[in-house]
Amino acid sequence: MKLLFNPASPFARKVLVVAHERGLNGRLELAPVAPLPIRPVAELSQVNPLGKVPTLVLEDGAALYDSRVIAEYLDSLGEGPRLFPAGGAARWTALRRQAAADGILDAAVAVRYERAVRPPERLFPEWVQGQLIKVRQTLDALEREAGALGAAFGIAEIAIGCALGYLDFRFPEESWRTGRPGLSGFYERVGTRGSMQATRPPSG
Ligand code: BEZ
Repeated sequence: MKLLFNPASPFARKVLVVAHERGLNGRLELAPVAPLPIRPVAELSQVNPLGKVPTLVLEDGAALYDSRVIAEYLDSLGEGPRLFPAGGAARWTALRRQAAADGILDAAVAVRYERAVRPPERLFPEWVQGQLIKVRQTLDALEREAGALGAAFGIAEIAIGCALGYLDFRFPEESWRTGRPGLSGFYERVGTRGSMQATRPPSG
């Protein structure tokens, strides 16, 4: 299987953490690509019309995307206890927490692109503020349930850990830990896992 990814992408990190946890590293060929909204990469667009990382190309040439689909697919291949609960309330809670973490990342990555790609004279500060408010409100919501996180290391914990790691990487000025002791403690604990250490974003 070939994973088209970018080392700075928190969504790619999420599926790499899943692959580590499921013992699938040896089965993944890693192909780094660097698409931007204004500069697509042909190799990626040919298999994923959205032109986004991560995209997983299977042995038969079929492509899977987005990160949620790839993560659950990899989970279905590995041995041992699953990272996605099979059903019932536990599954919906885990999927909702994953959606919250991915939503933080949707907003944060959009702001990252706004700042890194958009010409300065066309910046739209009110839009950026709106995105950052989504990030902060969702962090506050996760803080309220932080006590329930981390009993097991599943897809919710992976997604939230990757979201917090991305904020440290690209938005250190947000100081997300301030006023959120539950999430801070959670991140301290999950950050030490081998899969999280092995997939840390590049510096810079
Ligand atoms: C980043 O550089 O922050 C980034 C790269 C790829 C996907 C998302 C974010």
